[in-house]
Amino acid sequence: MSQELIELEEEEYTSQLTGAVFRRILTLLKPHWKWVVGFLITIALTSILDAYFTYLNKQIVDVGITLKDRPALIRIAWTYGIFQLLQAGFVFTFIYLAGVLGERVQYDMRKMLFNHLQDLSLSYYAQNAVGRLIARVTSDTGRVSDLLTWGVVDTTWAVMNITTSVTFMAIINWRLALIVFTIIPVMIIIAIQFRKRILVEYRVTRRTNSKITGAYNENFQGVRVVKGLLREDENTKEFQQLTSTMYRSAYRAAWLSALFLPTVQIIAALAMGLIIGYGGTQITLGLMTIGGIQAFVSYLTFMMWPIQDLARVYAEMQHSIASAERIFKLADTPPEVHDRSDAIEAETLMGEIEFDHVDFYYEDRKPVLTDFSLKVKPGEMIALVGPTGGGKSTLVNLLCRFYEPRAGTIRINGRDYMDYTLASIHSRIGIVLQTPHLFSGSVRDNIHYGRLNASDEEISEAAKIAGAHDFIVTLEKGYDQNVGEGGNLLSVGQKQLISLARAVLARPELFIMDEATSSVDTLTEALIQRGMEALMKGRTSFVIAHRLSTIRRANRIIVIENGKIAEQGTHAELLRERGHYYRLYTQQFRHELETQYGLAEGRIQEALEFYRAHRAEIDLLIQAEAMLEPSNNG
Ligand SMILES: Nc1ncnc2c1ncn2[C@@H]1O[C@H](COP(=O)(O)OP(=O)(O)O)[C@@H](O)[C@H]1O
Ligand SMILES: [Mg+2]
Repeated sequence: MSQELIELEEEEYTSQLTGAVFRRILTLLKPHWKWVVGFLITIALTSILDAYFTYLNKQIVDVGITLKDRPALIRIAWTYGIFQLLQAGFVFTFIYLAGVLGERVQYDMRKMLFNHLQDLSLSYYAQNAVGRLIARVTSDTGRVSDLLTWGVVDTTWAVMNITTSVTFMAIINWRLALIVFTIIPVMIIIAIQFRKRILVEYRVTRRTNSKITGAYNENFQGVRVVKGLLREDENTKEFQQLTSTMYRSAYRAAWLSALFLPTVQIIAALAMGLIIGYGGTQITLGLMTIGGIQAFVSYLTFMMWPIQDLARVYAEMQHSIASAERIFKLADTPPEVHDRSDAIEAETLMGEIEFDHVDFYYEDRKPVLTDFSLKVKPGEMIALVGPTGGGKSTLVNLLCRFYEPRAGTIRINGRDYMDYTLASIHSRIGIVLQTPHLFSGSVRDNIHYGRLNASDEEISEAAKIAGAHDFIVTLEKGYDQNVGEGGNLLSVGQKQLISLARAVLARPELFIMDEATSSVDTLTEALIQRGMEALMKGRTSFVIAHRLSTIRRANRIIVIENGKIAEQGTHAELLRERGHYYRLYTQQFRHELETQYGLAEGRIQEALEFYRAHRAEIDLLIQAEAMLEPSNNG
């Protein structure tokens, strides 16, 4: 996690405050304008009342105490009490409104991003780490919604407080007010400078801190390697550098924070001195009252916090804007694969599928498929084999339209598949991949995703066809067993059987398996294979299998090398041809014999010949043996 966090933090400074982004941030508030107006009004009222209280204080001194006017004093007291209650109501309202508004804005942004992330094509995920995306969505939306709520609250409150204070001061004595006003800008500038520097140091501290966490992880998780490579001294040195960087920036942040308040206080004291000095002479001239001076002093203190608040919001705003910029950039990324405006529903995928001179590459000038052509009849089982990196997965990714051809056409039922809607294609395809993916929930829930209107009977029926039923009933809670997050409470083989049951339930018209049996034991493989065969009956299917024994029954086996069809035919035809497939097959078979049965080279040739002569009987024996073998995998 640390590496991602570090990068996330480092991105923070790339952005500059730009008007366009800021205006766009404000548009996020548009749908909730009533709430915004509501809280702006209540904040404004709160701060006007605040200023008015100070004014009332002046009245108490000038009218009630100096002139000893009792009825007036009582009137003021009543006003005071009633307005206090009113203000309590306003404060409650604006805090509540801001809280709700923040949640709404954040919800909007997350929903927008979530929907958009779902629409983005696989190519986007190939280039962007998922963990990073999640961190971004959560931390960035949080930050922007904070700016839009508490940032706006603080700013409005501060601006209102300063304005009302200034107004009341001007009413009491405009000459003295002018003197005080010259100090405000100075104070704002100083406060902003301080806040910015403190924030910078604070971020350096945090970034260094996550680097230190990273260093801890790396060193102690890889402690044996560290010791083995004699890297201890070097690591200690690096670690010391990190900690001293962190110490220095934390120290500077503390120093700046400590210096900040006294500085503000000294400036305020200066203003205070001016008020009392100048105000005093005004009193002797009869141009000002004692209550007036007192009110001035109160207004000045009253402005201190808002000014500091403004500075803080301003300093933090740049980071929120950087967050907003990232959010907008993500929201603006167009999905590479999307429906055409005039796309129609594909009525069925049970028709001829044709790759017509298809070119494809992920990155420019690195062709993966070139001039690839293939015709598949409805109901055919196609097996794709060949060396790793040959382009098998790419081929099925194109078929599923997770990617689209760069040149050439893929036709389904004689029609360019880009004429169809993505949803109508995807809903008719069943896919089982090498690493099965389950969602947290029960076994039943996970199969249920295949077809949401399926009944419980249909679910267990599907599980039986897929060969998953037998192991499910041995689970403590059977179909109600919780599979854990991502299915991590089950073995890979069990997860695979469940995802197969899910595919069975979905009744796809086109079925795709990409190395589905590569990471399971032989017994599970046999089970999966039986489920698979049941599923493929009457459907067009594409199967990529590492173990060639899985695909012997395919209607057509296609050997793919370097993005081209090197060879194709049935198992028997290809073996007879003694080409690529023959080599792959015998190699694998030989390897299995060698490793599993410990046969020497010369004996293998003999065994192979024997096998060819008695294949059917031997296959039966092997299958029977596989079924009798006790399994250590559930
Ligand atoms: N998302 C991707 N981005 C860039 N290159 C990729 C991506 N996926 C696969 N490739 C490249 O495309 C080629 C074919 O890969 P793939 O179709 O996965 O082969 P196979 O499934 O036969 O092992 C390889 O060279 C691989 O490195
Ligand atoms: Mg692959």
